[in-house]
Amino acid sequence: MKVAPSLLAADFSRLEEEIRKVEAAGADLLHLDVMDGSFVPTLTFGPMVVEAIKKMTKLPVNAHLMILHPEKFVNDFINTGADIITFHIESADDANFLIKRIKGQDRKVGIALNPDTGFYRVTHHLYQIDVLLLMSVFPGFGGQGFMPEVLPKVREASEWITKHKFKCEIEVDGGVNQDSAKELLEAGCDVVVAGTAIFKKENYQEAITALRCSKV
Ligand code: DX5
Ligand code: ZN
Repeated sequence: MKVAPSLLAADFSRLEEEIRKVEAAGADLLHLDVMDGSFVPTLTFGPMVVEAIKKMTKLPVNAHLMILHPEKFVNDFINTGADIITFHIESADDANFLIKRIKGQDRKVGIALNPDTGFYRVTHHLYQIDVLLLMSVFPGFGGQGFMPEVLPKVREASEWITKHKFKCEIEVDGGVNQDSAKELLEAGCDVVVAGTAIFKKENYQEAITALRCSKV
């Protein structure tokens, strides 16, 4: 599996050094958690910080927008240079508009689903999106426990995407550690997002290699 470190758990006072370390450790992309204090209870950062981080790395950057009315801010995030822009289906007023706008600017588009949102909410969008981000915690905080209830949804999505030969990758976000990563791989997950399980470890390379679960 690919591994996307979530910078939420990084030391922001040494951000560039943290980014260099996960790059050297083999990270496949960077995951940036944008929170607005309304869709989720906490506030993090907005487009200025995403743009600054994008300039610090050659890795693809996924902006995970946990915000209300993403239509209002989508252009700002497109302008950051982020490679993938992921919005939540629960807060989107017009998902088709968002998909068209993001793809029209040559960015990849992701749709995120909260743990209690059914897979059926996105089936009609899957042919045109690049990433399906399935949350395995309720968004808002890093360091929560993985919810195994998401596993059947990962399986369902994986079977659907294979059956219809779509190109969409399945990414899972929240509480992922070495044990849950194994279950996710078996369920058909392509990319794991991890904050705590990387940045709170001494050795980022060991952490990322473990999460990848590659069969050598
Ligand atoms: C949760 C965020 C996640 C989170 C992951 O609201 O979307 O990306 O930072 O962090 P861990 O791996 O610590 O759960
Ligand atoms: Zn996230």
